[in-house]
Order: sequence, then structure tokens, then C-alpha cells
Amino acid sequence: MDNSNVRPETMERITTPELAQKFIDEQVAAVREQVKDGKVLLALSGGVDSSVVAALLIKAIGRNLVCVHVNHGFLRKGEPEQVIEVFRNQMNANLIYVDAADRFIDKVAGVTDPEEKRHIIGEEFIKVFDEEAAKLTGIHFLGQGTIYPDILESEKGIKAHHNVGGLPEEMEMELVEPVKLLYKDEVRVVGRALGLPESMVDRQPFPGPGLAVRTPGAITRERLEAVRESDAILREEFAKNGLQGKVWQYFTIVPDFKSTGIKDGKRTFDWFVVIRAVNTTDAIEASIEEIPYDLLRHITKRITTEVKGVNRVLYDLTPKPSGTIEWE
Ligand code: XMP
Repeated sequence: MDNSNVRPETMERITTPELAQKFIDEQVAAVREQVKDGKVLLALSGGVDSSVVAALLIKAIGRNLVCVHVNHGFLRKGEPEQVIEVFRNQMNANLIYVDAADRFIDKVAGVTDPEEKRHIIGEEFIKVFDEEAAKLTGIHFLGQGTIYPDILESEKGIKAHHNVGGLPEEMEMELVEPVKLLYKDEVRVVGRALGLPESMVDRQPFPGPGLAVRTPGAITRERLEAVRESDAILREEFAKNGLQGKVWQYFTIVPDFKSTGIKDGKRTFDWFVVIRAVNTTDAIEASIEEIPYDLLRHITKRITTEVKGVNRVLYDLTPKPSGTIEWE
């Protein structure tokens, strides 16, 4: 396998299903040549890159690919279920599902500093993945969803080259990185050609620490549920109203702050949900999507009625800068 980290100038941009198929055929052959009858371990988050790599490796080596999906408890509603449905049930993948939600939530209990939260989640992820890897024997290869911007950014020193919290280098496994020379749009074209569902291929960006960074302050199970449920309502309404695929990123935040309200004639003292919906091309600057007022009103009604512990909804009108896209 050509292990160069430089995309040749002659490499054609993958824009069509035909070009995607050609790429898939080449990579399937290259992976088989590299790993022969060996086994490959892959941390499958359910994000675009790791999902496309999983589908490609399943095509190349079938059940010799061992996927590990760690549910750290900060995933969106329905995400672990979708990973299990698509990979285990539809693609017959060798998938290990680890429900580590309690473990992660206990680890971040009482932690309010955003960077500390990220650090704890990253470390714990490596521990969980390591523990799973230690239960397996005879695995010499590690699959990774590295894409070309990761390589370019790590060369420029913008961000450490890692996926899903960074996997341990001391694992001493040979890397299998079949999409490392592709740009994001090409990864999506390849994913479609591999038969992955549109909801997986065209997913909006989602931070590795997930909903943890959308639960500012010390995370509790109750407030995390309020984030998860309000996010699900927002996504459902955006999909119904033609905003899915049009708005770059949208989500909800539930800060650790309560205000007074009224429900069924009685005083309440509950959290508020913040809606954020932004457009950008590179995530360096972002503008605010102008959501129709009627839709905002409808979403507010649904969230205050359906989400436990919430009595108010706010819309964040701050572009980046001065705000970042995420609140933490
Ligand atoms: P900010 O908040 O910096 O976000 O304006 C820019 C983009 O990066 C995503 N983001 C993350 N992605 N791990 C990730 O993988 C993280 O810790 C993280 N923090 C922010 C964010 O969702 C947005 O798309």
C-alpha cells in the first residue's frame, strides 16, 4: 500500500458515484494487500469519517474488521441505535458495543471547567478503548478515519492529528487509513457509494465530547437529558421544515442556570434551552441563520411542553466572532 501522506497533484477529485466506485475498488484491493488475513480494530464513533472507513473495510475484509462503538453518554438521541442498526444488522459487521455512559458521567461529575471536561472525556475514552482492545487477541492493525484536512492541519500544527479523542500510540499497531488523502466532500461521495444512509453521510459536525460541551457547568444526568431531548426536537423540526442540509450546524445548549416560570398555574424554577443555528464554510467565522419566527415559536412551545425541567427557550444571535460556535 502506498503510504504517502501527500495527495498527488494528478489525483482526480471524487465527485461522482463512478469515481467513488473506482476509488472503493482500488482501496479494497490495497487493504486486502496490506492486511491479508489479519484483523483490523476500528473505533467507530458513527461520525462520517469513521463510518465510511468501517463500510470500506467491511467490504474489503468482512468480519476481520472489529469495530468498537463506545457510547460515552454524550451522544445525540438515537445515535448508538443507528450505529448498531446500520453496521451490525444491515452490514453484518463484527461490532462491539460498549455502553460506558455511567462511567463517563461519573467521571465528569462536579467538573465545571470546559477544558478539564474535554480532557477527562478524552482520557476516559482511551481507557475504555484500551480495555476493549486488551480483551481481543491477534489484532495487528488499527483502522483510522484520518482525512486529508487532518494531515494538513497536523502538519501546520493547528491541531493534533487525532480521531475520537486520540487513540494511544503505544498500541503498536500498523495503521490502516484508506481515506487519508480525501477531502470531506469526497468522503461523503464514497460513503453514499458504499450504501451508508444519507443521515450518516451528510451529518452536521459534532464535537468528539458531544453533548458534554453543550451542558455548561457541572453535568448532571437530568440536564444532559434536557440537552438530548431538546436537540432531538430541534433536529426533527429543522428536518420537517426544510432546514436540514441547508443550515451548517444547529443544536441546543442547557446552561446550569434556573429562572422562574409558570406551569399549570404553579410557579416553576427551571432551566432554559438555548438554540444555536449557524452557517459557515470553514468554522473559523460563522453567521446566524434567520429562522422563521413562526418556527421558533413552535419549537419553543414544543421544548417547554415536552422537555422535563425546562421553562424557557432563547435564541442565540451571536455570530463567530464574538462567540464561538459551541458554548464551551
Ligand atoms: P467552535 O466552538 O470552536 O467550533 O467555534 C468550531 C467547530 O468545531 C466543532 N468543535 C469540536 N469538534 N472536538 C471536535 O471534534 C471538540 O472538542 C470540538 N469543539 C468544537 C464545533 O462543533 C464546530 O463545528
